[in-house]
Amino acid sequence: MPEAMLSLKRVNSGYGKFHILFDIDLEVPKGKITVIVGPNGAGKTTLLNTIFGLATIHSGKVIYKGNDITHVPAYKRAKMGMAYTLQLFNIFSTLTVKENLLLATYDIPEDEAKKRMEEVFQLFPRLKERLFQKAGTLSGGERQMLAIAISMLRKPELMLLDEPTAGLAPKLAKEVFEAVRHLGDQGYTIILAEQNAKGALEIGDEAVLIASGRIVARGKAQELLQDKDLSRKYLGLEV
Ligand SMILES: Nc1ncnc2c1ncn2[C@@H]1O[C@H](COP(=O)(O)OP(=O)(O)OP(=O)(O)O)[C@@H](O)[C@H]1O
Ligand SMILES: [Mg+2]
Repeated sequence: MPEAMLSLKRVNSGYGKFHILFDIDLEVPKGKITVIVGPNGAGKTTLLNTIFGLATIHSGKVIYKGNDITHVPAYKRAKMGMAYTLQLFNIFSTLTVKENLLLATYDIPEDEAKKRMEEVFQLFPRLKERLFQKAGTLSGGERQMLAIAISMLRKPELMLLDEPTAGLAPKLAKEVFEAVRHLGDQGYTIILAEQNAKGALEIGDEAVLIASGRIVARGKAQELLQDKDLSRKYLGLEV
């Protein structure tokens, strides 16, 4: 088993007094894509919020790079190398593509920023073609690519992606998934929450399935994908 970048130990969390996640044990290996799947309202976003410090942790521990960060606020987690791409509102729509990208590199030396920008354009050539377009006028797929690009520019040690394919046509969703797989192959550690279970499990390494705030299955992404009972019961997939 590769070294864990992040572990959750019997975490119970929610929002204020609302209890949403129950007894979550999770190990996120370094350099792998860990996929979180589950139906609407299962708690996928809440799990990412818990990892990033945006939820209330009632009990349990969150360990990141060997440090107990259970009570560390979100802005410090960002400084510790986590980047969180939200399910919604993940770009500045009134700014151009270029301005969005520049904002993400504001504190990075110019040469390094240029290098990172080139990596982004290699993965998403379409963004380079649309540099001066207002981000709010991008297509859904292009918008998600921009959101992922913003995260990439930070070179995060742990990348959290919440439903990057929500609302996308299958062809565009496939492109976004391929980009995420590409990042995984480059060595990024990624946690990908997705309702599009099939697409996510196809490109993932490890996977957990949450339902009603509890982890109900875990294993290799391919194994979960091929588990007929789980797929029918929770994911609406016919395999
Ligand atoms: N700020 C909040 N206060 C109270 N309850 C909340 C809050 N945010 C989310 N919830 C509740 O937490 C539960 C889990 O929501 P969550 O957004 O984590 O689900 P999800 O798996 O990401 O769903 P989806 O696939 O629709 O994005 C839901 O019942 C939701 O209503
Ligand atoms: Mg969600």
